[in-house]
Amino acid sequence: MSQRPIRRIGVMTAGGDCPGLNATIRSVAKTAIYRYGLEVVGIADGFLGLIEGRCRSLDPRDVSGILTRGGTILGSNNRANPARQFVGTDEHGNALHEDLRPRCVETVERHGIDTLVVIGGDGTMSAASRLIECGINVIGIPKTIDNDLVGSEITIGFLTAVATATEAIDKLHSTAESHHRVMVCEVMGRNAGWIAATAGVASGSDVILIPELPFQWDSICEFIDARRRHGPGFAIVVVAEGARPKNGEAVVAQVDVQSADPIRLGGIGAVVAHEIGARTGLETRTTVLGHVQRGGAPIAADRVLATNFGFWAVSALMDGARNRLIVRQRQTYTDVDLLHAAGRQRTIPLGDPILDAARAVGTSFGATLEVPPGARPPSVIC
Ligand code: F6P
Repeated sequence: MSQRPIRRIGVMTAGGDCPGLNATIRSVAKTAIYRYGLEVVGIADGFLGLIEGRCRSLDPRDVSGILTRGGTILGSNNRANPARQFVGTDEHGNALHEDLRPRCVETVERHGIDTLVVIGGDGTMSAASRLIECGINVIGIPKTIDNDLVGSEITIGFLTAVATATEAIDKLHSTAESHHRVMVCEVMGRNAGWIAATAGVASGSDVILIPELPFQWDSICEFIDARRRHGPGFAIVVVAEGARPKNGEAVVAQVDVQSADPIRLGGIGAVVAHEIGARTGLETRTTVLGHVQRGGAPIAADRVLATNFGFWAVSALMDGARNRLIVRQRQTYTDVDLLHAAGRQRTIPLGDPILDAARAVGTSFGATLEVPPGARPPSVIC
């Protein structure tokens, strides 16, 4: 397949949705049609639609007016996984899986799709890499609010999620101040603290708890206590859903046996609020931002990012790229082996300047930040 001239491409969005997906679909489709004269097929609901053969052809009118819209006109699904699809449970309740990749190959062949442009995160790239084994050519585009895809310094949707979280934390500030309370805000991000660290810095939060730096209760509470004694009697704590105490575990909200990625994190915010309240005697409240972070219109930066990624994906394909992930590195777009990024998560390096800058302005991470000597990679976010 990869040797055939490219005439028709399929495009799909898979995994959790995020702002900027529609902008990416639009860019892929318009670049493919206007610049290269290709045909474009939209696959519904991610890998599920690929397995079930649910596709429709997309023309420029189908992708007009969607640049600013949240969600994805194609639909998404984060349970489907062609190589290991959940098909039910046995008599003991154990999950049963089947390899449904032949059905995906059938869909691709039936619709004459020469390449699949897959817009997704690490789990999606992992699933897509198993399709490569079946001879399907895949071009990946990185999206996830978590910003945790290996190989790319930024992913579509992250900046909008940060803007949403920042706005919410700003609002918590005024009510925290009025009531002299500790407000704990739990944000998403899975095992990476990009959203917490970035929104925490943007909102001037007092304490930021991230998975990369397991925290100590004493450190957090002494910091909040000192702040109360020497100044304002309120504090804002941003906690990533994957954050955990030193020698402790992350809090799991749910195990979804039907999902390719069964562990759903969540609940650490309430634990942190309870512990701070018990140890300091201060009144605490918790806000869990949840899926609000994944909704709504993409901010301008995400629209531009999405347009660039879509354009680069189709251009790289037409320049001969096969089974590549489009990435941005040091503000430049390029592509890497998709297999390299598949299933791997990019957490915040402890030498990242954002952590140092946060500390410099007095933010606590509830832990000692030991920066490895010489480790100071370029700032990758803004
Ligand atoms: O990967 C994006 C993300 O929003 C994570 O931050 C979060 O842990 C997870 O997806 C939630 O997934 P679900 O769609 O299953 O609620």
